[in-house]
Amino acid sequence: MTSIDSTPFGELPDGTVIEKWTLTAASGAAVSILTWGATIQSVLVPDRDGTLGNVTLGFAGLAGYLDPANPYFGSTIGRYGNRIAGGTFTLDGQTHKISQNEGQTALHGGVRGFDKRVWSAARADGGVRMSYTSPDGEEGFPGTLETSVTFTFDDEHRLRIDYRATTDRATVVSLTNHAYWNLTGEGTGTINDHLLRINAEHYTPIDEDLIPTGAVTPVAGTPFDFRDFHPIGARLRDADQQLGYGLGYDHNYVLAGREAAVVRDPRSGRQLTIETTEPGLQFYSGNFLDGKLRGVSGRQYRQGDAFALETQHFPDSPNRPDFPSTVLRPGDTYGSTTIHTFTTFA
Ligand code: BGC
Repeated sequence: MTSIDSTPFGELPDGTVIEKWTLTAASGAAVSILTWGATIQSVLVPDRDGTLGNVTLGFAGLAGYLDPANPYFGSTIGRYGNRIAGGTFTLDGQTHKISQNEGQTALHGGVRGFDKRVWSAARADGGVRMSYTSPDGEEGFPGTLETSVTFTFDDEHRLRIDYRATTDRATVVSLTNHAYWNLTGEGTGTINDHLLRINAEHYTPIDEDLIPTGAVTPVAGTPFDFRDFHPIGARLRDADQQLGYGLGYDHNYVLAGREAAVVRDPRSGRQLTIETTEPGLQFYSGNFLDGKLRGVSGRQYRQGDAFALETQHFPDSPNRPDFPSTVLRPGDTYGSTTIHTFTTFA
């Protein structure tokens, strides 16, 4: 049985106490989540010899999380994961302007998304439920959004994240978590040798602003083909314009089934399997890490030191009627579940 405890992690300038909730499995493996941004701060799991290591990037103290340079380490992302072109969309004939935080683009919910909010935490379903009410008009999004994200971690080392949301006005929503993974351990170097498999025949190519062009393109014959295991770094420097735009992989995959991806680290023997109810997966190869941030262990995070696999609806769906819909209406409940399973191989 998982044990659950909470301790103070730090204080905001206004005196609000940020809590760290830790879910510990029988083996000692443990996941910690902060009430700041419903953020996964640490994930301790065994390697093939049974030695526990922290496999997610993060900071030792609250100051790192409050720093505007924090690139969403472990954050819950909302109301809209990834990009909305021009920070604008039209719903039921009405145009909405979302706060733009990347040139003209709204990325990860705007200037102050769910990653920069205080969530309230309570025990639920054998884990911890984080709740946040986003007022009507916050960051430009219509409707009061009642949101909860429930984290559980069991003795099989399954980290399950359940997202729920309801609204009082038609709106758009796509929630995800932005954990950065390095299965050898955070701060140990690049993930170029990690083997990745993604269950997708297609991906959505991007323009120079990293916004989907609208095309849905087969991965076959491209560096985006991860239908069989490939080292993440093997094709990173291929002369491919898409890799040029993203400075590496920064693309949405169109998932072909519930098992989204498997990552294997030959060094540690750790394996991560991701299952999801979502139609898309953003594969980001840590391209914008530049050595300026120091992580939990005090080491610098440089380009390619971690990867993210964010389960989501496709970027810019509010402007793409042919992509799966992200519209949520009063009376309906948004639901999304992603399970991360940590195992080992010989
Ligand atoms: C985006 C990247 C971005 C990263 C950190 C990813 O979801 O696709 O372009 O740099 O998040 O914000």
